[in-house]
Amino acid sequence: MSESPKSLRELLELLQQEKQLLSFNREHALEPDLSAAAQAGQNIGETSPALMFNNLQGYPGKRIVLNTVSSWPNYALSMGLPKESSQQQIYQEVLRRWSDSPWELQEKTEQPPFMDNIIEGDDINLFELIPLFRGNERDGAPYITKGAFISRDISEPNNDDKENVSIYRVQAKGKNLLSAQFVPGHDCARHLSIAEERGENLKVAIAIGVPPALSVAACSPLPYEESEFKLAAALQDSPFEVYKSEHTGLNLPWSAEYIIEGEIIAGEREHEGPFGEFTGFYCGNRKMPLFKVTRVMHRDQPVFENLHLARPMSESDYIMAFNNGVAMHQELKTNFPGIKAVNALNCYGLVTIISIDQNMGGIAKSAALRAMTTAPGLISAKTVIMVDDDVDPFDMYQVMWAMSCNMNPQFDVSLINGLPSVGLDPASVPTGITAKMVIDACRPTAPDLRGNSKPKEDIVHPTGTGEWEQKLTAMIKAL
Ligand SMILES: Cc1cc2nc3c(=O)[nH]c(=O)nc-3n(C[C@H](O)[C@H](O)[C@H](O)COP(=O)(O)O)c2cc1C
Repeated sequence: MSESPKSLRELLELLQQEKQLLSFNREHALEPDLSAAAQAGQNIGETSPALMFNNLQGYPGKRIVLNTVSSWPNYALSMGLPKESSQQQIYQEVLRRWSDSPWELQEKTEQPPFMDNIIEGDDINLFELIPLFRGNERDGAPYITKGAFISRDISEPNNDDKENVSIYRVQAKGKNLLSAQFVPGHDCARHLSIAEERGENLKVAIAIGVPPALSVAACSPLPYEESEFKLAAALQDSPFEVYKSEHTGLNLPWSAEYIIEGEIIAGEREHEGPFGEFTGFYCGNRKMPLFKVTRVMHRDQPVFENLHLARPMSESDYIMAFNNGVAMHQELKTNFPGIKAVNALNCYGLVTIISIDQNMGGIAKSAALRAMTTAPGLISAKTVIMVDDDVDPFDMYQVMWAMSCNMNPQFDVSLINGLPSVGLDPASVPTGITAKMVIDACRPTAPDLRGNSKPKEDIVHPTGTGEWEQKLTAMIKAL
């Protein structure tokens, strides 16, 4: 294990060294080349590299990186782990850091590199400053899809724990106008309603090109009073460096490539969308808050890091891969200490798979029901599949084996109607309401002794399998 990269540039350097980055120096047009390249990278599969475009038509000196963390090797490297790490190994490390590493901010006073270029007032033209492009052909406009969106609870302006960082999709609407879409219940929606009740605009900022741990923290389901900057510190295993903006009073990631600052205008809403979403479908057009930009700052030769959303697996699935699962695990572990891992990576956890050592019959099903009412499970966890602890919930062959051999639909499938779901779930009826299902693919455990289910270790691996595995892996690496 090495140190986690503390900036986007450190990550790009590491990806280059590890042969997980492809660079393009020939000129490329923004549309349709970039999103086509990102989609092609995703089609290549689970080990695909990041894509760096150094020569953009119409944008001399500016660069774009896509698919930065759009594969398991890139995710592992972004956390300072070996690129061969399995999903289960990455999950266990994220779980360990989330619980055990210090959640610490480091406020730096030294001028950050993004202050090398400051653009204010009438000089702001987002379309000139940032190489914005549409990710999917029927998107209503260009979108910023991997920006860390920062806001604060203005009723407690000095409370860093009530500062929020999230990833929200942000539509470019004009040269100094953006529109953000945050679902009710998400923290910025709460910050905005507090400001609007007072008749005040809400100061906000978007940081683009941030340390990889912050992107992961930003889309993690933290309680309202916990800071994503501090979670990022835990995830990267070192204090998170911020710089306090005199313009908005917000903490800004010190190493960011771009900073966009401004305010959400109280009481104003305008049409936003359509937009190709993580479900693989377009969402419609709805009225959303407006964000007036008052200052843009960027590093020299800035890198615009954006993310291509599409049917899974796309980068958003990778950066969300462990967040919901680890957050559910944290909530469940007191009552269900037998839980080993929670795989909530399918469509942000709409299908969640949990491995458990159930010490008594019925415990697995109880844990599944509880998972549906955890904070992240409430609007996801539509199907929860329970497997024994000898099954890796990240390995679909093993999960399908458990479903094939341990599950009898007569006893092991339970349906509950009328529960909440994320509004983007196209199968919800009405939108935002769904039935949920538990599939218990664990072996029946006493006092439930039905059927002729087999003990966990019926066919054991032949003696020496572990040593052979190491030997073969080393030989394959050396080929
Ligand atoms: C690429 C990407 C785009 C997202 N877009 C949105 C969005 O537009 N609106 C939203 O409410 N959540 C969006 N999310 C999910 C939130 O980032 C996530 O649920 C986060 O935990 C919300 O945190 P909050 O409750 O602190 O706001 C997105 C996540 C990713 C990875």
